[in-house]
Amino acid sequence: MSNDPLLQPYQLKHLRLRNRIMITSHEPAYSENGMPTERYRAYHVERAKAGVALTMTAGSAAVSLDSPPVFDNLLVYKDEIVPWMKDLTDECHEHGAAVMIQLTHLGRRTRWDKGEWLPALSPSHRREAAHRAFPKKMEEWDIQRIIKDYTDAAERMVAAGLDGIELQAYGHLMDQFWSPLTNTLDGPYGGNLDNRLRFTFELLKSIRQRVGDDFIVGLRYTGDEMLAGGLSMTDGLSISQRLKDSGMVDFLNVVRGHIDTDAGLTDVIPIQGMRNSPHLDFAGEIRTATDMPTFHAAKIPDVATARHAIVSGKVDMVGMTRAHMTDPHIIRKIIAGDEDNIRPCVGANYCLDRIYQGGAAFCIHNAATGRELSMPHDIPKAEVRKKIVIVGAGPGGLEAARVAAERGHEVVVFEALNDAGGQIRLTAQSPRRQEMIGIIDWRMSQCERLGVRFHFNTYAEVDNIQAEKPDVVIIATGGLPDTEVLDKGNELVVSSWDILSRSIQPGSNVLLFDDAGDHAALQAAEVIANSGANLEIITPDRSFAPEVMAMNLVPYMRTLQQQAVTFTVTYRLKSVSRDGDQLLATIGSDYDDGSRDFTQTRRVDQVIINHGTLPFDDLYFELRGLSSNEGEVNYNDLIHGTPQALTHNHEGQFQLFRIGDAISARNTHAAIYDALRLVKDL
Ligand SMILES: Cc1cc2nc3c(=O)[nH]c(=O)nc-3n(C[C@H](O)[C@H](O)[C@H](O)COP(=O)(O)O)c2cc1C
Ligand code: SF4
Repeated sequence: MSNDPLLQPYQLKHLRLRNRIMITSHEPAYSENGMPTERYRAYHVERAKAGVALTMTAGSAAVSLDSPPVFDNLLVYKDEIVPWMKDLTDECHEHGAAVMIQLTHLGRRTRWDKGEWLPALSPSHRREAAHRAFPKKMEEWDIQRIIKDYTDAAERMVAAGLDGIELQAYGHLMDQFWSPLTNTLDGPYGGNLDNRLRFTFELLKSIRQRVGDDFIVGLRYTGDEMLAGGLSMTDGLSISQRLKDSGMVDFLNVVRGHIDTDAGLTDVIPIQGMRNSPHLDFAGEIRTATDMPTFHAAKIPDVATARHAIVSGKVDMVGMTRAHMTDPHIIRKIIAGDEDNIRPCVGANYCLDRIYQGGAAFCIHNAATGRELSMPHDIPKAEVRKKIVIVGAGPGGLEAARVAAERGHEVVVFEALNDAGGQIRLTAQSPRRQEMIGIIDWRMSQCERLGVRFHFNTYAEVDNIQAEKPDVVIIATGGLPDTEVLDKGNELVVSSWDILSRSIQPGSNVLLFDDAGDHAALQAAEVIANSGANLEIITPDRSFAPEVMAMNLVPYMRTLQQQAVTFTVTYRLKSVSRDGDQLLATIGSDYDDGSRDFTQTRRVDQVIINHGTLPFDDLYFELRGLSSNEGEVNYNDLIHGTPQALTHNHEGQFQLFRIGDAISARNTHAAIYDALRLVKDL
């Protein structure tokens, strides 16, 4: 047996967990009508098969009708969930993983205009900034009803054969009772800490009476809200001790911080550029003080940090949640001594930000995650070996190269620059976003392992391609900034990429027009603001940077709000003209109905435009006539996973495809998904 501390089993009551790595609860929004159907099951089973010890399913599964889901959470208040959870649990059990589920009532952390349109509620009328509901202040009958709802939900999970449950108490109803900031009730459920904990202990008692002593029940809770007037660390330690002393709780899953604002949530679940494992020591302090089985997750992205968490005795089970979204096979690779091949989580937080936008969780650089029913994590070998030439070594081109090489094909990549990376290399210029380069580095190391041949500093032309005698050519040349958006003065502006690449220095009085709403604008803004310039960001959108999304916005705002930056929404840059050694920017509005003059002007020394990219597609169009399919993709085959077989030109020398921004400006995930989806069937 291995002596790797991470691979040692852990005995939790009667339950033997096969190693020390768990996936903490996270709702990926894969449910259908609140049920964990095939896709949901496949996601967890993939990770169970690869060796995870415990998967905490769901995330904020709703116990009550007046806790409507905010991101397609599971509805554990419905009896029909039992067979679905049973199927998921049975299949994970077959592969040796334990299965639990996180149950909750969201309290004020939801909206009233979802589900059954019942009022949101909380132990006070105080609104949560993030979800915006003004809650009803709870009455006694709400308390008794919700305790019963939790208890019924717990019983359903026993019926489904789960190993245990975890009650959520950070930012949700349970700790809304605990925190003086969110509980203005009088006794018996408000006032001193004993009163504020009464709901929790009545609830635990009720659950225990129903499920017995053997079923595992834990809490995932904040031990320190890190908010003025909120629960302090002393309160947290006292709560932890009382949970232990109650004898009703089997494990503590420790969180530190508050999640009522985007900024608070981002400190609890740090993203790229933020410190690794910032709350691990705190979890260790709770473990030392209570001697309780302690779980914890918060940006422990790599095996070395996870190993440290266990060896140092700070936790008993270490959560690697986003890390498992990026690479579901972490444990299999640890066991095989193949850690170097683990695909790294780069903290891009595309996964989490998407669910807050109402989408499903996808990993920025593993397009198979959440698509286990249609996309392979392990690429199958092709029956016939082909020669595949790829032009462009950005994320899409490298994914195409990796997948093609995994299929057993001979792969050649042409790249005009002397390094791989494309737009990601530009992104990683910002120190805060350096982790992004992991997307490229991992693919380069995989390509190296698989024998892909690279031609750097080579501007591929038709001749180069033909000389390779390829069966398939994939154009992954990306795009170039499109700044031609003005009625007049396009020649006077620079692009956000010019600033990011440092090929143009920031001016001192700068206007940045952003109607792409993506990272490039805010990254350029950081460079400009940090240079000490005055900066105004203008967008025609209703809010700025919509593609950046909630948690990713936090570090930008922490920089930009410290600098001379103003944001102007709902205005559109129309034209730029010279005005002595300055530029005169004319600004209009999409709301202009001709009734009044909406025009404004700004006098600045630099105008920057961020308007996405135009495809860099000359080579593609030159090659089209030489190809058998004339570049056409059969979308039905693409979606259904059948090989591309269109032939328009019987004289064609090869099949030709385009992926990523070489088609149209999208994002990294789209480029990687284009590549995986196409090449897995070539
Ligand atoms: C898509 C997604 C959804 C999440 N939903 C929940 C949730 O419902 N409840 C919860 O306690 N934590 C939730 N989390 C937080 C994770 O459990 C975990 O604490 C967080 O991702 C930090 O751990 P990591 O750095 O290992 O990913 C979610 C995380 C992700 C990525
Ligand atoms: S999207 Fe980013 S943070 Fe989320 S799992 Fe993937 S690499 Fe990690």
